[in-house]
Amino acid sequence: MSKVERANFGSKLGVILASAGSAVGLGNIWRFPCEVGENGGAAFMLVYLACVIFLGVPVMTSEFLIGRRSRANAAMAYNVLAPGSKWSFVGLMGVFASFLILSYYTVVAGWTLEYSVAAASNKLSSGVDFVGFFNDFVANPWKSSLYVVLFMVLTHLVIIRGVTDGIERFSKIMMPVLLVIIIVLVFCSFFMPGAGAGLTFLLKPDFSKLTPEVALNAMGQAFFSLSIGMGCLCTYGSYFSKDTNLMKTAGSVAFIDTMVAFMAGFIIFPAVYSVPGLSPDAGPGLVFVTMPNVFNMVFSGLPWLGYLFSVLFYVLLVLAALTSTVSLHEVATAYIHERFNLSRKTGAYIVTVVCSVLGILCALSFGVLNGYRLFDMTVFDLFDFFSAKFLMPLGGMLISIFTGWYLDKNILKEEITNGGSIKVRFFKIYVLLLKYFAPIAIGVIFINELFK
Ligand code: PHE
Repeated sequence: MSKVERANFGSKLGVILASAGSAVGLGNIWRFPCEVGENGGAAFMLVYLACVIFLGVPVMTSEFLIGRRSRANAAMAYNVLAPGSKWSFVGLMGVFASFLILSYYTVVAGWTLEYSVAAASNKLSSGVDFVGFFNDFVANPWKSSLYVVLFMVLTHLVIIRGVTDGIERFSKIMMPVLLVIIIVLVFCSFFMPGAGAGLTFLLKPDFSKLTPEVALNAMGQAFFSLSIGMGCLCTYGSYFSKDTNLMKTAGSVAFIDTMVAFMAGFIIFPAVYSVPGLSPDAGPGLVFVTMPNVFNMVFSGLPWLGYLFSVLFYVLLVLAALTSTVSLHEVATAYIHERFNLSRKTGAYIVTVVCSVLGILCALSFGVLNGYRLFDMTVFDLFDFFSAKFLMPLGGMLISIFTGWYLDKNILKEEITNGGSIKVRFFKIYVLLLKYFAPIAIGVIFINELFK
């Protein structure tokens, strides 16, 4: 595969928005509140923030760097930069993770599709038992499988349109709209009766709740939410142009992603404390049970506005999920396409079919397959645990070691400063974080968890 043939993102804004499109998704709006709720609130958020700044930004910058320097897909990038070495294993691990994540992520993405349909047909109006509604839906084998396949097909359609036409154009339109609606919802949530209790939960840290497990969960969430450690942003980096400022792009993406996650927290928790019978540790259903209540309570005097907002919210959630599933699909598609010399289309078909089958298995684990467990986890939980809490941080650790220790310092400097044409203030700190902090911190969190 020659270098010239590869596609490129068309503009700087497109680069940031496509990467932010990958990062911002259900990880922010579904997984983040769920983890915050299960890990005790404010203290978790602080550890999370530290992980984003000191691990997330350097690892993301390195992934962009590896991708742009090699102009190859996640797995083959290492063959280009470290020919004949074992490093390509890191890339392969990422491709493997992309299959796992895409499969189970699409289950939740399918739920958002179902909720869009339910909102549009006015099935989420007040008086409905939202807990029962959610539980019935996820346990229904036909419906949840159908939505997995539908979502996978949607993703497939964007993927076969290619990089600039499909991914970039799509992200450019959707991301800003999503931001606006989230800001409006945060504002609305502050007027809910439980706002005070919700804000205390989010802002007043209780450090006695900080256990090794909470640290692992926060780190896993940071990697998951930023889409790092598994080659996704490396693949996007390979489409960057020569004058993209890698570190600045990583900083902007991390900033946008964290803002969206925190805002999601500020929407959800005031609402959780406003609805009798709901508790912050409700698990994967948290957002799906809470949000319909928000729309009904906030807009009780103006039901048509509540209707409008709920439809808009779920549709945007679908789109946010789609920009993420597209990036996951792209990792696997680019790999199969370039590694096995198959057409992009065939590669995409293979990924779609394999992940649909795995996705259906994950979907069924909320119903008929619920009894089948390994280490006390369902297939869905196992995929989530293994990718977010093991593969991604491990990938991040190896990526730091690769760029910090293995790669020639001159290459690093050349890429970060775009051949000396831009001044980068944090270069030394960046190298220190990669060489020492990231590998040690990730290692310590792993070991602590192992011997807890
Ligand atoms: N970061 C995405 C989200 O927050 C999920 C994702 C993980 C996407 C890994 C790509 C790679 O929803």
